[in-house]
Amino acid sequence: MKILVTGGAGFIGANFLNLLVPRHPEHHFVNLDKLTYAANPLSLAAIEAASNYEMTVADIVDYDAVEAVFRKHEPELVVHFAAESHVDRSISGPAPFIKSNIEGTFNLLEACRKHWKPGEGLFHHVSTDEVYGSLGDTGLFTESTAYDPSSPYSASKAASDHLVRAYNRTFKIPMKLTNCSNNYGPYQFPEKLIPLMILNAKDRKPLPVYGEGLNVRDWLYVTDHCDAIWAVINEGRVGETYNVGGHNEVRNIDVVNTLCRIVAEETDSDEAELRGLITYVKDRPGHDLRYAIDAGKIKSELGWTPKETFDTGMRRTVRWYLENTEWVDRVQTGDYRKWIEENYGAR
Ligand code: NAD
Ligand code: DAU
Repeated sequence: MKILVTGGAGFIGANFLNLLVPRHPEHHFVNLDKLTYAANPLSLAAIEAASNYEMTVADIVDYDAVEAVFRKHEPELVVHFAAESHVDRSISGPAPFIKSNIEGTFNLLEACRKHWKPGEGLFHHVSTDEVYGSLGDTGLFTESTAYDPSSPYSASKAASDHLVRAYNRTFKIPMKLTNCSNNYGPYQFPEKLIPLMILNAKDRKPLPVYGEGLNVRDWLYVTDHCDAIWAVINEGRVGETYNVGGHNEVRNIDVVNTLCRIVAEETDSDEAELRGLITYVKDRPGHDLRYAIDAGKIKSELGWTPKETFDTGMRRTVRWYLENTEWVDRVQTGDYRKWIEENYGAR
Protein backbone atom coordinates (compact mmCIF):
# COMPACT_ATOMS: atom_id res chain seq x y z
CA MET A 1 0.00 0.00 0.00
CA LYS A 2 1.15 3.58 -0.72
CA ILE A 3 1.09 5.55 2.54
CA LEU A 4 1.49 9.32 2.72
CA VAL A 5 2.73 10.42 6.14
CA THR A 6 2.61 14.19 6.70
CA GLY A 7 4.92 15.77 9.27
CA GLY A 8 7.13 12.68 9.38
CA ALA A 9 10.26 14.66 10.26
CA GLY A 10 8.73 15.92 13.53
CA PHE A 11 8.74 14.19 16.89
CA ILE A 12 5.86 11.71 16.65
CA GLY A 13 6.00 11.33 12.85
CA ALA A 14 9.69 10.35 12.97
CA ASN A 15 9.04 7.80 15.73
CA PHE A 16 6.13 6.42 13.68
CA LEU A 17 8.26 6.04 10.53
CA ASN A 18 11.27 4.62 12.39
CA LEU A 19 8.98 1.99 13.85
CA LEU A 20 6.93 1.06 10.78
CA VAL A 21 9.21 1.39 7.75
CA PRO A 22 11.46 -1.55 8.77
CA ARG A 23 8.48 -3.60 9.98
CA HIS A 24 6.45 -3.23 6.78
CA PRO A 25 8.51 -3.72 3.62
CA GLU A 26 5.20 -4.48 1.82
CA HIS A 27 4.14 -0.83 2.22
CA HIS A 28 5.72 2.24 0.61
CA PHE A 29 5.97 5.28 2.89
CA VAL A 30 6.19 8.82 1.51
CA ASN A 31 7.04 11.48 4.09
CA LEU A 32 5.66 14.92 3.19
CA ASP A 33 7.16 17.59 5.43
CA LYS A 34 7.81 21.31 5.15
CA LEU A 35 10.81 20.99 7.48
CA THR A 36 9.88 23.78 9.87
CA TYR A 37 12.10 24.57 12.87
CA ALA A 38 10.48 21.56 14.64
CA ALA A 39 11.51 19.07 11.98
CA ASN A 40 14.79 17.25 11.99
CA PRO A 41 15.64 14.82 9.18
CA LEU A 42 18.51 13.54 11.39
CA SER A 43 15.77 11.80 13.34
CA LEU A 44 15.17 9.66 10.23
CA ALA A 45 18.80 8.61 9.64
CA ALA A 46 18.01 4.94 10.38
CA ILE A 47 15.46 4.63 7.54
CA GLU A 48 16.79 7.24 5.10
CA ALA A 49 18.16 4.61 2.70
CA ALA A 50 15.29 2.10 3.02
CA SER A 51 13.84 1.12 -0.36
CA ASN A 52 10.24 1.47 0.92
CA TYR A 53 10.75 5.06 2.17
CA GLU A 54 11.14 8.46 0.56
CA MET A 55 10.99 12.07 1.67
CA THR A 56 9.37 14.94 -0.17
CA VAL A 57 9.72 18.52 1.06
CA ALA A 58 6.43 20.40 0.65
CA ASP A 59 4.09 22.76 2.50
CA ILE A 60 0.54 21.51 3.06
CA VAL A 61 -0.63 25.14 2.99
CA ASP A 62 0.29 25.16 -0.71
CA TYR A 63 -2.55 23.27 -2.45
CA ASP A 64 -0.63 22.89 -5.73
CA ALA A 65 2.26 21.26 -3.89
CA VAL A 66 -0.12 18.85 -2.13
CA GLU A 67 -1.85 18.07 -5.41
CA ALA A 68 1.52 17.35 -7.08
CA VAL A 69 2.40 14.87 -4.32
CA PHE A 70 -0.98 13.12 -4.71
CA ARG A 71 -0.58 13.00 -8.51
CA LYS A 72 2.89 11.51 -8.25
CA HIS A 73 2.25 8.98 -5.47
CA GLU A 74 -1.53 8.32 -5.51
CA PRO A 75 -1.60 7.40 -1.78
CA GLU A 76 -4.30 5.02 -0.52
CA LEU A 77 -3.73 5.99 3.11
CA VAL A 78 -2.88 9.42 4.55
CA VAL A 79 -1.56 9.60 8.13
CA HIS A 80 -1.73 13.27 9.01
CA PHE A 81 0.72 14.41 11.69
CA ALA A 82 1.86 17.74 10.16
CA ALA A 83 0.98 20.70 12.37
CA GLU A 84 2.38 23.54 14.36
CA SER A 85 2.35 21.88 17.76
CA HIS A 86 3.67 24.15 20.52
CA VAL A 87 1.07 25.91 22.68
CA ASP A 88 3.44 28.71 23.81
CA ARG A 89 4.28 29.58 20.20
CA SER A 90 0.57 29.68 19.34
CA ILE A 91 0.16 32.34 22.02
CA SER A 92 3.06 34.49 20.84
CA GLY A 93 2.13 34.06 17.14
CA PRO A 94 -1.08 32.24 16.18
CA ALA A 95 -0.98 32.81 12.39
CA PRO A 96 1.08 29.75 11.33
CA PHE A 97 -1.22 27.57 13.46
CA ILE A 98 -4.28 28.74 11.58
CA LYS A 99 -2.51 28.26 8.25
CA SER A 100 -0.86 24.88 8.76
CA ASN A 101 -3.34 23.21 11.08
CA ILE A 102 -6.60 24.38 9.50
CA GLU A 103 -5.81 25.35 5.90
CA GLY A 104 -3.21 22.58 5.60
CA THR A 105 -5.70 19.93 6.74
CA PHE A 106 -8.32 21.39 4.40
CA ASN A 107 -5.89 21.12 1.43
CA LEU A 108 -5.13 17.49 2.21
CA LEU A 109 -8.85 16.69 2.45
CA GLU A 110 -9.48 18.46 -0.85
CA ALA A 111 -6.74 16.39 -2.51
CA CYS A 112 -8.34 13.21 -1.09
CA ARG A 113 -11.71 14.35 -2.44
CA LYS A 114 -10.22 14.89 -5.86
CA HIS A 115 -8.20 11.66 -6.01
CA TRP A 116 -10.44 9.18 -4.20
CA LYS A 117 -13.93 8.11 -5.25
CA PRO A 118 -16.46 8.31 -2.35
CA GLY A 119 -15.66 5.47 0.08
CA GLU A 120 -12.12 4.96 -1.24
CA GLY A 121 -8.90 5.48 0.72
CA LEU A 122 -8.40 6.28 4.40
CA PHE A 123 -7.52 9.58 6.10
CA HIS A 124 -6.11 9.09 9.59
CA HIS A 125 -6.10 12.36 11.51
CA VAL A 126 -3.69 12.63 14.44
CA SER A 127 -5.14 15.00 17.02
CA THR A 128 -4.86 16.01 20.64
CA ASP A 129 -6.77 15.83 23.92
CA GLU A 130 -6.35 19.63 24.16
CA VAL A 131 -9.46 20.05 21.95
CA TYR A 132 -11.54 19.10 25.02
CA GLY A 133 -10.25 22.01 27.11
CA SER A 134 -9.49 21.66 30.79
CA LEU A 135 -10.70 19.22 33.44
CA GLY A 136 -11.16 20.14 37.08
CA ASP A 137 -9.82 17.88 39.82
CA THR A 138 -11.90 14.89 38.72
CA GLY A 139 -13.27 13.28 35.56
CA LEU A 140 -11.79 11.99 32.31
CA PHE A 141 -12.06 12.99 28.63
CA THR A 142 -14.14 10.50 26.63
CA GLU A 143 -14.81 10.49 22.90
CA SER A 144 -18.11 12.29 23.57
CA THR A 145 -16.70 15.11 25.72
CA ALA A 146 -17.69 18.46 24.16
CA TYR A 147 -14.95 20.48 22.47
CA ASP A 148 -13.80 23.52 24.47
CA PRO A 149 -10.30 24.53 23.32
CA SER A 150 -8.32 27.15 25.26
CA SER A 151 -5.31 28.10 23.12
CA PRO A 152 -4.94 29.09 19.46
CA TYR A 153 -3.14 25.74 19.01
CA SER A 154 -5.98 23.66 20.45
CA ALA A 155 -8.61 25.75 18.65
CA SER A 156 -6.81 25.15 15.34
CA LYS A 157 -6.64 21.41 16.03
CA ALA A 158 -10.36 21.40 16.98
CA ALA A 159 -11.17 23.11 13.66
CA SER A 160 -9.14 20.51 11.77
CA ASP A 161 -10.95 17.67 13.59
CA HIS A 162 -14.31 19.18 12.58
CA LEU A 163 -13.20 19.46 8.95
CA VAL A 164 -12.12 15.82 8.88
CA ARG A 165 -15.48 14.67 10.28
CA ALA A 166 -17.39 16.98 7.91
CA TYR A 167 -15.55 15.58 4.87
CA ASN A 168 -16.46 12.10 6.03
CA ARG A 169 -20.15 12.91 6.40
CA THR A 170 -20.51 15.10 3.34
CA PHE A 171 -18.06 13.66 0.80
CA LYS A 172 -17.76 10.08 2.15
CA ILE A 173 -14.02 10.33 2.69
CA PRO A 174 -13.25 7.40 4.99
CA MET A 175 -11.53 8.74 8.08
CA LYS A 176 -10.39 7.74 11.55
CA LEU A 177 -9.35 10.12 14.27
CA THR A 178 -7.21 9.75 17.39
CA ASN A 179 -7.08 12.32 20.21
CA CYS A 180 -4.00 11.66 22.29
CA SER A 181 -2.56 13.01 25.53
CA ASN A 182 0.99 14.38 26.08
CA ASN A 183 3.74 12.38 24.42
CA TYR A 184 7.37 12.12 25.48
CA GLY A 185 10.39 10.20 24.24
CA PRO A 186 13.25 10.42 21.71
CA TYR A 187 13.44 13.13 19.01
CA GLN A 188 11.18 15.67 20.78
CA PHE A 189 12.21 19.26 20.14
CA PRO A 190 13.56 20.72 23.41
CA GLU A 191 10.99 23.47 23.70
CA LYS A 192 8.56 20.96 25.26
CA LEU A 193 8.60 20.31 29.00
CA ILE A 194 10.41 16.96 29.28
CA PRO A 195 13.36 17.39 26.86
CA LEU A 196 13.80 21.01 27.99
CA MET A 197 14.10 19.97 31.62
CA ILE A 198 16.48 17.06 30.88
CA LEU A 199 18.86 19.24 28.86
CA ASN A 200 18.68 22.21 31.23
CA ALA A 201 19.36 19.96 34.23
CA LYS A 202 22.33 18.40 32.42
CA ASP A 203 23.69 21.88 31.58
CA ARG A 204 22.86 23.30 35.06
CA LYS A 205 20.48 25.90 33.60
CA PRO A 206 17.27 27.06 35.35
CA LEU A 207 14.26 24.71 35.18
CA PRO A 208 11.32 27.06 34.46
CA VAL A 209 8.08 25.76 35.97
CA TYR A 210 4.93 27.69 35.00
CA GLY A 211 2.73 28.99 37.82
CA GLU A 212 2.92 26.69 40.82
CA GLY A 213 3.66 23.54 38.82
CA LEU A 214 0.30 22.04 39.79
CA ASN A 215 -1.08 21.52 36.27
CA VAL A 216 -1.59 17.87 35.43
CA ARG A 217 -0.83 16.10 32.16
CA ASP A 218 -1.45 12.45 31.20
CA TRP A 219 1.95 11.31 29.86
CA LEU A 220 2.33 8.62 27.20
CA TYR A 221 5.56 7.24 25.76
CA VAL A 222 5.66 8.13 22.07
CA THR A 223 5.97 4.62 20.62
CA ASP A 224 2.85 3.60 22.55
CA HIS A 225 1.03 6.42 20.72
CA CYS A 226 2.46 5.20 17.39
CA ASP A 227 1.28 1.63 18.10
CA ALA A 228 -2.17 3.00 18.95
CA ILE A 229 -2.39 4.90 15.65
CA TRP A 230 -1.33 1.81 13.69
CA ALA A 231 -3.88 -0.34 15.56
CA VAL A 232 -6.67 2.14 14.78
CA ILE A 233 -5.63 2.35 11.11
CA ASN A 234 -5.70 -1.44 10.76
CA GLU A 235 -8.48 -2.50 13.09
CA GLY A 236 -10.45 0.60 14.11
CA ARG A 237 -13.89 1.37 12.74
CA VAL A 238 -14.15 3.85 9.85
CA GLY A 239 -15.66 7.19 10.86
CA GLU A 240 -14.77 6.67 14.53
CA THR A 241 -12.72 8.59 17.06
CA TYR A 242 -10.45 6.89 19.61
CA ASN A 243 -8.97 8.60 22.66
CA VAL A 244 -5.40 7.54 23.46
CA GLY A 245 -3.77 8.12 26.85
CA GLY A 246 -1.39 6.69 29.37
CA HIS A 247 -3.57 6.47 32.52
CA ASN A 248 -0.63 8.35 33.85
CA GLU A 249 -1.57 11.70 35.41
CA VAL A 250 1.35 13.61 36.86
CA ARG A 251 1.64 17.19 38.15
CA ASN A 252 4.29 19.22 36.32
CA ILE A 253 6.34 19.73 39.47
CA ASP A 254 6.41 15.97 40.02
CA VAL A 255 7.56 15.45 36.41
CA VAL A 256 10.42 17.90 36.98
CA ASN A 257 11.41 16.37 40.34
CA THR A 258 11.40 12.88 38.78
CA LEU A 259 13.63 14.13 35.97
CA CYS A 260 16.05 15.69 38.49
CA ARG A 261 16.30 12.32 40.23
CA ILE A 262 16.86 10.31 37.04
CA VAL A 263 19.34 12.80 35.52
CA ALA A 264 21.27 12.83 38.82
CA GLU A 265 21.36 9.00 38.87
CA GLU A 266 22.38 8.71 35.23
CA THR A 267 25.11 11.37 35.44
CA ASP A 268 26.34 10.57 38.93
CA SER A 269 25.50 14.04 40.18
CA ASP A 270 23.72 15.61 43.12
CA GLU A 271 19.90 15.45 42.93
CA ALA A 272 19.53 18.32 45.44
CA GLU A 273 21.72 20.55 43.25
CA LEU A 274 19.49 19.83 40.23
CA ARG A 275 16.31 20.47 42.23
CA GLY A 276 17.85 23.78 43.24
CA LEU A 277 17.63 24.83 39.58
CA ILE A 278 13.80 24.79 39.69
CA THR A 279 12.52 28.32 39.07
CA TYR A 280 8.83 29.22 39.25
CA VAL A 281 7.97 31.57 36.38
CA LYS A 282 4.91 33.49 35.12
CA ASP A 283 2.08 31.16 34.15
CA ARG A 284 1.03 30.43 30.56
CA PRO A 285 -2.12 32.48 29.68
CA GLY A 286 -5.21 30.25 29.46
CA HIS A 287 -3.20 27.37 30.97
CA ASP A 288 -5.41 24.26 31.12
CA LEU A 289 -5.36 22.79 34.63
CA ARG A 290 -5.67 19.10 33.97
CA TYR A 291 -5.86 16.61 31.11
CA ALA A 292 -6.74 12.94 31.63
CA ILE A 293 -7.91 10.42 29.07
CA ASP A 294 -10.40 7.60 29.32
CA ALA A 295 -8.80 5.14 26.88
CA GLY A 296 -11.48 2.48 27.49
CA LYS A 297 -12.75 2.45 23.90
CA ILE A 298 -9.41 1.68 22.21
CA LYS A 299 -8.67 -0.89 24.92
CA SER A 300 -11.98 -2.73 24.67
CA GLU A 301 -12.30 -2.57 20.86
CA LEU A 302 -8.68 -3.05 19.82
CA GLY A 303 -6.92 -4.41 22.90
CA TRP A 304 -4.43 -1.50 22.94
CA THR A 305 -2.74 -0.60 26.21
CA PRO A 306 0.55 1.27 26.77
CA LYS A 307 3.67 -0.89 27.07
CA GLU A 308 5.89 1.62 28.87
CA THR A 309 5.28 2.75 32.43
CA PHE A 310 6.16 6.32 33.40
CA ASP A 311 9.28 5.04 35.20
CA THR A 312 10.61 2.94 32.31
CA GLY A 313 9.67 5.56 29.71
CA MET A 314 11.27 8.44 31.60
CA ARG A 315 14.49 6.45 32.18
CA ARG A 316 14.68 5.57 28.44
CA THR A 317 14.03 9.19 27.50
CA VAL A 318 16.68 10.62 29.83
CA ARG A 319 19.23 8.07 28.56
CA TRP A 320 18.36 8.90 24.95
CA TYR A 321 18.98 12.64 25.45
CA LEU A 322 22.22 11.99 27.34
CA GLU A 323 23.54 9.49 24.79
CA ASN A 324 22.50 11.14 21.52
CA THR A 325 24.86 14.06 21.82
CA GLU A 326 25.14 14.71 18.07
CA TRP A 327 21.36 15.09 17.67
CA VAL A 328 21.19 17.29 20.78
CA ASP A 329 24.21 19.46 19.82
CA ARG A 330 22.88 20.03 16.32
CA VAL A 331 19.49 21.06 17.66
CA GLN A 332 20.90 23.26 20.42
CA THR A 333 23.40 25.03 18.16
CA GLY A 334 20.88 25.34 15.31
CA ASP A 335 23.35 23.40 13.13
CA TYR A 336 20.57 21.05 11.96
CA ARG A 337 19.08 24.01 10.04
CA LYS A 338 22.32 24.36 8.05
CA TRP A 339 22.22 20.64 7.37
CA ILE A 340 18.63 20.95 6.11
CA GLU A 341 19.66 23.83 3.81
CA GLU A 342 22.58 21.83 2.39
CA ASN A 343 20.56 18.65 1.88
CA TYR A 344 17.12 19.96 0.98
CA GLY A 345 17.65 23.63 0.10
CA ALA A 346 17.67 23.10 -3.65
CA ARG A 347 14.48 20.99 -3.76
P1 NAD B 1 6.26 18.49 15.89
O1 NAD B 1 6.11 19.95 16.03
O2 NAD B 1 7.41 17.81 16.53
O3 NAD B 1 6.33 18.10 14.33
C1 NAD B 1 5.43 18.64 13.40
C2 NAD B 1 5.94 18.32 12.00
O4 NAD B 1 5.00 18.87 11.06
C3 NAD B 1 7.31 18.93 11.70
O5 NAD B 1 8.13 17.97 11.06
C4 NAD B 1 6.97 20.09 10.75
O6 NAD B 1 8.00 20.38 9.81
C5 NAD B 1 5.73 19.56 10.04
N1 NAD B 1 4.90 20.66 9.53
C6 NAD B 1 4.41 21.72 10.24
N2 NAD B 1 3.74 22.55 9.40
C7 NAD B 1 3.79 21.98 8.17
C8 NAD B 1 3.28 22.36 6.90
N3 NAD B 1 2.60 23.50 6.73
N4 NAD B 1 3.48 21.54 5.84
C9 NAD B 1 4.18 20.37 6.00
N5 NAD B 1 4.71 19.98 7.17
C10 NAD B 1 4.51 20.78 8.25
O7 NAD B 1 4.88 17.87 16.36
P2 NAD B 1 4.57 16.49 17.10
O8 NAD B 1 4.69 16.69 18.54
O9 NAD B 1 5.33 15.40 16.41
O10 NAD B 1 3.01 16.34 16.77
C11 NAD B 1 2.57 15.70 15.59
C12 NAD B 1 1.05 15.70 15.55
O11 NAD B 1 0.55 15.03 16.69
C13 NAD B 1 0.43 17.09 15.57
O12 NAD B 1 -0.68 17.10 14.71
C14 NAD B 1 0.00 17.29 17.02
O13 NAD B 1 -1.11 18.15 17.10
C15 NAD B 1 -0.37 15.88 17.40
N6 NAD B 1 -0.25 15.54 18.82
C16 NAD B 1 0.93 15.80 19.50
C17 NAD B 1 1.04 15.42 20.83
C18 NAD B 1 2.32 15.66 21.61
O14 NAD B 1 2.32 15.46 22.82
N7 NAD B 1 3.42 16.07 20.98
C19 NAD B 1 -0.04 14.80 21.47
C20 NAD B 1 -1.22 14.58 20.75
C21 NAD B 1 -1.30 14.93 19.42
O1 DAU C 1 -1.93 17.16 25.42
C1 DAU C 1 -1.36 16.97 24.16
C2 DAU C 1 -0.49 18.17 23.83
O2 DAU C 1 0.68 18.08 24.63
C3 DAU C 1 -0.13 18.25 22.35
O3 DAU C 1 -1.29 18.43 21.61
C4 DAU C 1 0.85 19.40 22.10
O4 DAU C 1 1.26 19.40 20.73
C5 DAU C 1 2.06 19.20 22.98
O5 DAU C 1 2.96 20.28 22.81
C6 DAU C 1 1.63 19.09 24.45
O6 DAU C 1 1.11 20.36 24.92
P1 DAU C 1 1.46 20.94 26.37
O7 DAU C 1 1.26 22.39 26.36
O8 DAU C 1 0.78 20.15 27.42
O9 DAU C 1 3.03 20.57 26.42
P2 DAU C 1 4.30 21.35 26.96
O10 DAU C 1 5.45 20.40 26.95
O11 DAU C 1 4.50 22.67 26.29
O12 DAU C 1 3.91 21.65 28.48
C7 DAU C 1 3.59 20.59 29.39
C8 DAU C 1 3.21 21.23 30.71
O13 DAU C 1 4.38 21.82 31.30
C9 DAU C 1 2.21 22.37 30.58
O14 DAU C 1 1.33 22.36 31.70
C10 DAU C 1 3.05 23.64 30.60
C11 DAU C 1 4.22 23.24 31.48
N1 DAU C 1 5.53 23.85 31.15
C12 DAU C 1 5.96 23.80 29.87
C13 DAU C 1 7.20 24.35 29.53
C14 DAU C 1 7.68 24.31 28.10
C15 DAU C 1 6.30 24.41 32.17
O15 DAU C 1 5.90 24.44 33.34
N2 DAU C 1 7.51 24.95 31.83
C16 DAU C 1 7.99 24.94 30.55
O16 DAU C 1 9.11 25.47 30.31
